[in-house]
Amino acid sequence: MHPDVREVLLTAEQIRIRVGEMAERIAADYRDREPVLVGVLDGAIVFLADLMRALPIPLRIDFVKWSSYGDSSTSSGEVQLLKDLSFSVEGKHVLVVEDIVDTGLTLHYLMENLGTREVATLAVAALLDKPSRRRVKVKLDYVGFEVPDEFVVGYGLDLAQRYRNLAYVALLKPEVYRRGMEPPMNTDKRR
Ligand code: IMP
Repeated sequence: MHPDVREVLLTAEQIRIRVGEMAERIAADYRDREPVLVGVLDGAIVFLADLMRALPIPLRIDFVKWSSYGDSSTSSGEVQLLKDLSFSVEGKHVLVVEDIVDTGLTLHYLMENLGTREVATLAVAALLDKPSRRRVKVKLDYVGFEVPDEFVVGYGLDLAQRYRNLAYVALLKPEVYRRGMEPPMNTDKRR
């Protein structure tokens, strides 16, 4: 275990099994339509990499990246699109792949944005859901796990860009934050 980790919330094995279950449902639902998996950078890359390899159906992938709504550069409180899709999704079956849905704001903006592009269908697969923190209502079609109202890292999720490479989802020791590695500037996310 990483020395900064206080507790492992989800082991690599638990995640592997659950991602397989999600893939089974997704494969059944999309057996007649080729989905475009849209990964939300950076956090969703690990989940997307595992999910796509567990899906035995034709599919394509693409990525979007948003600014954090906590950034001082986005004082409007709105997220901004930093990287857009690299091909048109008009008429396509888009499945958004998210690492975690917290307040729901990022996903809300993404769904609004994709909704204007005349996609055939639009759905969401999120590995983690923190429903207690929701500020806007978002519909999640496939959810891996519900997590408590705590800041989690690993399996793609970071604190100041670190810990994304942990194979499990974990809570950090309080001294990690005391060392100055604060959760994102978004005050909502401070613990
Ligand atoms: P939302 O817009 O509040 O739903 O948050 C979405 C993004 O915030 C996620 O895609 C993550 O990048 C980040 N985030 C939210 N909660 C956590 C957490 O507990 N650990 C790491 N990143 C998080």
